[in-house]
Amino acid sequence: MKAVRFHEYGDPSVLRFEDVERPVPGAGQVLIRVAATSFNGVDGNIRAGFMQGPIPVTLPHTPGIDVSGTIAAPADGVAGFEVGDQVVGFLPMAGDGAAAEYVVAPAEILAPAPARVPLADAAALPTVGLTAWQALFDHAKLAAGQRILINGAGGAVGGYAVQLAKRVGAYVIATAGPRSIGQVKASGADEIIDHTTTGVTAAVSEPVDVVLNLAPIDPEQLAALPGLIRPGGVLVNTTVWMPAPSDDARGVRGIDLFVRSDAAQLARLVALIDAGELHVDVAQRIPLADLPAVHTQAAAGTLPGKTVIVAAKEDR
Ligand SMILES: NC(=O)c1ccc[n+]([C@@H]2O[C@H](COP(=O)([O-])OP(=O)(O)OC[C@H]3O[C@@H](n4cnc5c(N)ncnc54)[C@H](OP(=O)(O)O)[C@@H]3O)[C@@H](O)[C@H]2O)c1
Repeated sequence: MKAVRFHEYGDPSVLRFEDVERPVPGAGQVLIRVAATSFNGVDGNIRAGFMQGPIPVTLPHTPGIDVSGTIAAPADGVAGFEVGDQVVGFLPMAGDGAAAEYVVAPAEILAPAPARVPLADAAALPTVGLTAWQALFDHAKLAAGQRILINGAGGAVGGYAVQLAKRVGAYVIATAGPRSIGQVKASGADEIIDHTTTGVTAAVSEPVDVVLNLAPIDPEQLAALPGLIRPGGVLVNTTVWMPAPSDDARGVRGIDLFVRSDAAQLARLVALIDAGELHVDVAQRIPLADLPAVHTQAAAGTLPGKTVIVAAKEDR
């Protein structure tokens, strides 16, 4: 089968589109014929060798932590999946990923794919959708009537976070740059602050219950965010190379989020998509052979938005 792999850490030129053996599922695993994976920022950091401590991959390594595809072979003893079932999943980050024609995955991390979007586009959901869900509901316990500031709402996690926060009846203040203001507005944000012209700390006049930081801001800017939160509120931060600050005196807790696979949560996100209550945004669809160019775009900061890497022709 074809796959993109890197044999040594480095810049995007280490990525090679090559022939590799089709993987064989082990205990508890299924073989998936990949429709698509998607690009996540962590893919570039793994390739560059920056994540060798927390995410120890074995070289050569196939990137791609998101998968959408079709079950090609269920392993012995794995119930619940039939050949031909369409699935999505957030794959174990240290294992070989889905930038390939086939990938093996633990059955327990998979959810049925949404029927409402093309199967390849569904690869834009797992990691970032779960990140948004876990930030809002596992960590911040966001509830109706609460005020939330989503800093960095113009990105892939932010798109889901704005929609999910509005859906539970929160008041959403979002930051976005000119590139993404239209999309953040379409996601339903109540107020939008253009972070390229306006400082967020000056622009938020009333305290919020929750801040979700998704933006690669300076440590000093991150340190100022607890000041926007009411006593007892929460700051959830995904840019975990900077620890989330707290304000113990006012009972404001800073939480570093590390997304985890959760098939039940993923199934709930899929159900929202199929009910027309959650929209999947895909900025570009790129063939598998061109994954190195996607990493180059990301390294240059010119990715246009969520990028899906298509391995197979559409099944339906
Ligand atoms: N810890 C975890 O488990 C975990 C999981 C998932 C993601 N993450 C991290 O969380 C972050 C967001 O993920 P993502 O997939 O949504 O990334 P993304 O699609 O690259 O979005 C990040 C967005 O931040 C915005 N931004 C840039 N500078 C900003 C600033 N100064 N103020 C406000 N917004 C700014 C940009 O939007 P504009 O176009 O509007 O400027 C950009 O689209 C990334 O750093 C990612 O690596 C962590």
